[in-house]
Amino acid sequence: MEGYELVAKESEFEQDGRKEVIVDDVPVLLIKQDGKYYAIEDVCSHDGQPLTDGPIENCQITCPRHGAKFDLATGAALCMPATEGIPTYDIKIEAGEIWLCEN
Ligand code: FES
Repeated sequence: MEGYELVAKESEFEQDGRKEVIVDDVPVLLIKQDGKYYAIEDVCSHDGQPLTDGPIENCQITCPRHGAKFDLATGAALCMPATEGIPTYDIKIEAGEIWLCEN
């Protein structure tokens, strides 16, 4: 799968959850929410805080530092203090393996 990196197995996500992975030396947060996978850069665009432990609700993750919200599907910044979105990753699943490529 050219351009994609193997980062996890589906068996690690039997229920909703999250996993920190590295893609091309960049920290990425792989999330399973309501049965769907999302992958976003694990760095808040406001001031660099990892989003790893941020609360997730309605397909949005909240930065634990100053409260910026990002859309899990598009990476778009949804409220201040963030004004720029964060990169998202394309996800391919094959034979139970989860592969990521930056969009
Ligand atoms: S570092 Fe994320 S909102 Fe400020």
